[in-house]
Amino acid sequence: MIPAIEWEDGRLVLLDQRYLPGRIEFVRCRDFREIAGAIKDMVVRGAPAIGIAGGYAVAVAVRECRDGARGTDGKDRPLAIEADLEKCAAFLKEAADHISAARPTAVNLMWAVDRVLEKALSVLRDILRAGSGLETALAEAYTSALEEARAIEREDLEMNKRIGANGARLIRPGSRVLTHCNAGALATGGYGTALGVIRKAWEEKKISMVYACETRPYLQGARLTAWELTQDGIDVTLLVDSAAGYLMSKGMVDCVVVGADRIALNGDVANKIGTYTLACLAGIHDIPFYVAAPTSTFDPTISDMSAIPVEERSPEEVLHFRGAPTGPEGVKAVNPSFDLTPHKLISAIITEKGVIEPPIPENLPRVIKG
Ligand code: MRU
Repeated sequence: MIPAIEWEDGRLVLLDQRYLPGRIEFVRCRDFREIAGAIKDMVVRGAPAIGIAGGYAVAVAVRECRDGARGTDGKDRPLAIEADLEKCAAFLKEAADHISAARPTAVNLMWAVDRVLEKALSVLRDILRAGSGLETALAEAYTSALEEARAIEREDLEMNKRIGANGARLIRPGSRVLTHCNAGALATGGYGTALGVIRKAWEEKKISMVYACETRPYLQGARLTAWELTQDGIDVTLLVDSAAGYLMSKGMVDCVVVGADRIALNGDVANKIGTYTLACLAGIHDIPFYVAAPTSTFDPTISDMSAIPVEERSPEEVLHFRGAPTGPEGVKAVNPSFDLTPHKLISAIITEKGVIEPPIPENLPRVIKG
């Protein structure tokens, strides 16, 4: 499996997910603005993966600060060794805001950006207080920020393995599992969240069929999930999004497993558009509906889904596919990239720390703190 994100010779190398599975291409990002642009344009996508890329972007911003880089306004703004600590901190905070703003829904992005920024700033302060010059402090801050970004990536892979093990216990032998979007290795530091559960249960020979919804308009299910599962020898069957209800009504689906972009304190979930529809359908047909996510996807600042910002992407993604129009000229389109699923429709949330079962609002704090 080709990694979605790699740090290579001081550059962040991203597998360009816009062209999969047809073309394998990479984008090599030299500065933090290029990484933020790649997140915005969905070269890299999936909540944990954009968090990882965002973490590296902050480390790159620290390096740019050290080298005397451009400001987020694009103008030359020397901020090298002659700049004072406040100026560096202001530059880094501005860079962090710019990176965090690339996509609004997945909280993993803001979480990782804040974590690496805090690390860099605390190292910067400590070294300056110890009497070293700014150049030394910035060099140390860059090393520490880079290590923090690498740690986020490493930890994500470990969390996914644990999510896989915790989730596979919920899958009954012979299950036909339906998933939506791509919550796999491509969307994470490796292995995947929802696809981590599917991978583990497949390995344990509990799955007889994986159904992947194609996930209009960006086709993460058709282009990415089907590709990554096929690469790993996991049998997968695609369906158009609107076929899910019919399959469920015919008794062809035993459970649904999806990922998440942000989870509120009461267990309400933001995930790829279409998730809420699947949760409603699963509820009507008495099919377990599972959400798999690391604790970095939980937002401790919001109590329910009403406060989750939902990204609205360009209508062009709906109106055209690979340059070909999908509707008549001049027609309008609406393109919310995510939707919100209330916890009442969720059978369990699978995390690396354990499984949160109903009543989810009551059980959630104990599991995620644990
Ligand atoms: O728009 P995307 O492709 O970034 O959306 C991705 C999803 O909605 C995933 O289900 C979610 O991020 C979980 S990925 C482990």
